[in-house]
Amino acid sequence: MASRPDTTSVTIDGNDRSIVLVGMMGVGKSTIGKLLAGKLGLSFVDSDEEIEKAAGMPISEMFERFGESSFRDGERRVIARLITEGPKVIATGGGAFINDETRRLIKEKCRSVWIDADLDVLIERVSRRSNRPLLVGKDPREVLTDLATKRTPFYAEADIHVRSDSGPHARTVNQILEALA
Ligand code: S3P
Repeated sequence: MASRPDTTSVTIDGNDRSIVLVGMMGVGKSTIGKLLAGKLGLSFVDSDEEIEKAAGMPISEMFERFGESSFRDGERRVIARLITEGPKVIATGGGAFINDETRRLIKEKCRSVWIDADLDVLIERVSRRSNRPLLVGKDPREVLTDLATKRTPFYAEADIHVRSDSGPHARTVNQILEALA
């Protein structure tokens, strides 16, 4: 029997740029990124995981031992490397796109997607994980409100803007696929 084309996989004609997901912590960049990569037949990489591999320690330990600026330096270098490695879906940490050099590189060489959500959705989602150093011992609503205010103008520079709500991530993936097509 003749095999039918795989309708679950979507190709973006003539585009071999990586797709980089940016946005606040807790918005679902990694989960959405994996689903999106599956649909596009691309590999998926999470920049936080790559930083941890390169440093040989968890991000929380990097913050504790060397401070945030050392983490940011590693983040900038790791993302620059990932971008040179051929087309993939890259989920970045919430602060990555705020760095001028990283943002410039992403905008020049990739397609960027800002995934955005209401504060209440973010607060509910960050409560599922306790290892985010910027939130340890703090009120997540206060921290996220402050970060969102500072970061939104940078995220808004992304090529594509989608909103995620408390519904399934697959819905956000479909919005991204439509915007990319
Ligand atoms: C950070 C977000 C985290 C991680 C680090 C700093 C931020 O990634 O990179 O804890 O500055 O918003 P997620 O956005 O995947 O949580």
